[in-house]
Amino acid sequence: MSRAQILDGKACAKEVRSKVASAVAMIKGQHGVTPGLAVVLVGADPASEVYVKNKGKQTLAAGMASFEHRLPAETVEADLLVLIEQLNQDKAVHGILVQLPVPAHIDEAKIINAIDPAKDVDGFHVINAGMLATGQDGLVPCTPVGCVILAKQAMSDLSGLEAVVIGRSNIVGKPVAQLLLRENCTVTIAHSRTKNLKDVVARADLVVAAVGQQELVRADWIKPGAIVIDVGIHRLTLDGGGTKLVGDVAFDEVAEVAGAITPVPGGVGPMTIACLLRSTVLACCRAHGIVAPDL
Ligand code: GUN
Repeated sequence: MSRAQILDGKACAKEVRSKVASAVAMIKGQHGVTPGLAVVLVGADPASEVYVKNKGKQTLAAGMASFEHRLPAETVEADLLVLIEQLNQDKAVHGILVQLPVPAHIDEAKIINAIDPAKDVDGFHVINAGMLATGQDGLVPCTPVGCVILAKQAMSDLSGLEAVVIGRSNIVGKPVAQLLLRENCTVTIAHSRTKNLKDVVARADLVVAAVGQQELVRADWIKPGAIVIDVGIHRLTLDGGGTKLVGDVAFDEVAEVAGAITPVPGGVGPMTIACLLRSTVLACCRAHGIVAPDL
């Protein structure tokens, strides 16, 4: 039996999706506009295929329009740029997401920065990253938003907390640090090269683990009562031949020490697509001058 509050991402994501669906119904009914999300997948990476399929399903379930573009792995960069420009011009498309990773012959940064920042629902465009860093109202990466929503389930006001983010990626580590700063946390970004990582993490009232190393964070790294948000996802093969998903945190032992913790699976994972739908609705509202409902 764990001591910690389990932060249920599945239930929380369901709540976000339900608010999104109500907002979509209002936007359609009162403004005659259907929020639309375009997802572009280049190649056939199996994990990406699963994500894209789920995104399409959940987009439609929320009452939104879903546009899927599946391109062969050998697609050249110029052709992908042409598609992005078409989607930038398309009035029915309010959000554009290019599933990452793209094949190695395509320049990822060039593709991301070709997306109209107003439609960049991933929040990866350099303009949106800059807006987040300077406290302006842009589009914010989805997984980091999900992390903060879950942390706030444990403590509605994160103000003044010592937060340690482990990981410095553009997708999670850096933007989640910016969001926590916006929540008035004292933020440290640690990573795989941090000296005495365990001691740095032990200071934290709030830990976000997004470093990509399975079960790296152990019970003796955690301050008793801390909030622990686990962004990692790794598939382990068990002795019997079955598989099990684990995160960057050794869940069973950390749950004995932490005050609140997200499980893997069922923690941060389900929040990402829910937050993506939310961003698409916000982008649609901004595009049409509609006052965004409370999401
Ligand atoms: N691949 C893994 N995570 C993400 C994400 O959040 N957005 C995109 N576009 N690709 C991803």
